Amino acid sequence: MGFPDNFLWGGAVAAHQLEGAWNEDGRGPSICDVLTGGAHGVARRITDGVVPGENYPNQRGIDYYHTFREDDALFQEMGFKCFRTSISWSRIFPNGDEEEPNEEGLKFYERLFEDYRAKGMEPVVTLSHFEMPLHLAKMGGFANREVVDYYFKFASTVMERYKNLVKYWLTFNEVNNQMEMHTEIFPYTNSGIIPDPNDNPHEVEQKIWQAIHNEFVASALVVQRGHQINPDFRIGCMLAMVPIYPATCKPEDVMHAEVLMRDRYLFGDVYVNGEYPCYLLNRWDREGFDIEMEPGDTDIIAAGTVDFISISYYMSAAVSAEKVPEFDGHGLPGQVRNPYIKATDWGWQIDPVGLRYVLCSLFERYRKPIFVVENGIGMYETPDSDGYIADDARIAYLRSHIEQVRKAIDYDGVPVIGYTVWGCIDVISFGTGEMKKRYGMIYVDADDNGNGSYRRSRKKSFYWYRDVIASNGADL
Ligand code: BG6
Repeated sequence: MGFPDNFLWGGAVAAHQLEGAWNEDGRGPSICDVLTGGAHGVARRITDGVVPGENYPNQRGIDYYHTFREDDALFQEMGFKCFRTSISWSRIFPNGDEEEPNEEGLKFYERLFEDYRAKGMEPVVTLSHFEMPLHLAKMGGFANREVVDYYFKFASTVMERYKNLVKYWLTFNEVNNQMEMHTEIFPYTNSGIIPDPNDNPHEVEQKIWQAIHNEFVASALVVQRGHQINPDFRIGCMLAMVPIYPATCKPEDVMHAEVLMRDRYLFGDVYVNGEYPCYLLNRWDREGFDIEMEPGDTDIIAAGTVDFISISYYMSAAVSAEKVPEFDGHGLPGQVRNPYIKATDWGWQIDPVGLRYVLCSLFERYRKPIFVVENGIGMYETPDSDGYIADDARIAYLRSHIEQVRKAIDYDGVPVIGYTVWGCIDVISFGTGEMKKRYGMIYVDADDNGNGSYRRSRKKSFYWYRDVIASNGADL
């Protein structure tokens, strides 16, 4: 058995983390263009517009806007069957509310997707990967219902334009991140909600829940429209799957973990089942949230269910029902360090078996094909004088995770349709804005402040992954 013949091996990136060219060819400012650089333990800041003297790494990316043909040739050399990227919304609608799209932006992605096809790579396209035009965020982001119409227009425009180039679409990247409602970055990047110091925590959560409802409607409308544009489209949701284990077999720990997992599942529950789960309706009632719904919303959500589920998977977490001192990893209530697994330098707990666990859980819950569209490890790396890095730890990480995907397919019967390594080329880290948190199999000579030649070089994992793909996963 092993991986099916048409398995989609490849790599994944997002527009704002690699394109750069933030103000070229008519592109408008996007929410990521005003995120400063941070570090492990130093949060990125959202500035009020572009402030002179600040470091904005996403404005530079790795200059892929100008180098994509050469970079794509390296992906082709690794034998990628698919390539996942996102469309920068503000290249197409610079402010988000224009009548007509920006033709230069549309042409860029046309050239890009044609290049992928010419190089034998199936494009996998995320419509919104932590991006929206800054102007729409200033209008309230997805908490403002009007933004649903702008998203629909953006999505319809690109789906129509690329209907013969792109088959696989994802509506919102890691849409469940915003369940970490106490952070500034996740509601901002998921939904364009700019922190307002005048809001109390309940008001913040009310806005986020409203945005989430509006995104469910937006996604369902786009799924329906996409299927009208091209019935062959396969349109999926994208969930950040960090499984939450109970710290012990104490029943209270088990139930605490179960309840926290709903913050992940609720998105799949709505996207796949097309209705709000009871536990969420009860929670809104209990906690006093009043979600504005327009007549017909529940029908739209029911009619726009997804064709497949896609996930990112990097780590697992463990929680205790006891009050414990705050953990430096992800800050879930009662989160504790899992003593059985190691963590990366950024505190992400490495757990390959957890990947099989989530694949099984998701398939048993939803009975839909699953695409692993992100998996990888961020590391500090210093190349030798030829730009070469023997990144054995990355190879070990990827190997151990791919082994678990194979088990999920072979033993468990989970229909996994593809696997794309996150940041197959070094890109700007989303969480920290660093360049030095590297995920790539291709090294990019650039530092956190944008210094460097931006020269690309192949790491050891480049050759390893090429052999994995050539053997369809047999040679790990
Ligand atoms: C996911 C995102 O959260 O993880 C990516 O979809 C991100 O955009 C990736 O880059 C790794 O996270 P980070 O913060 O290490 O870049």
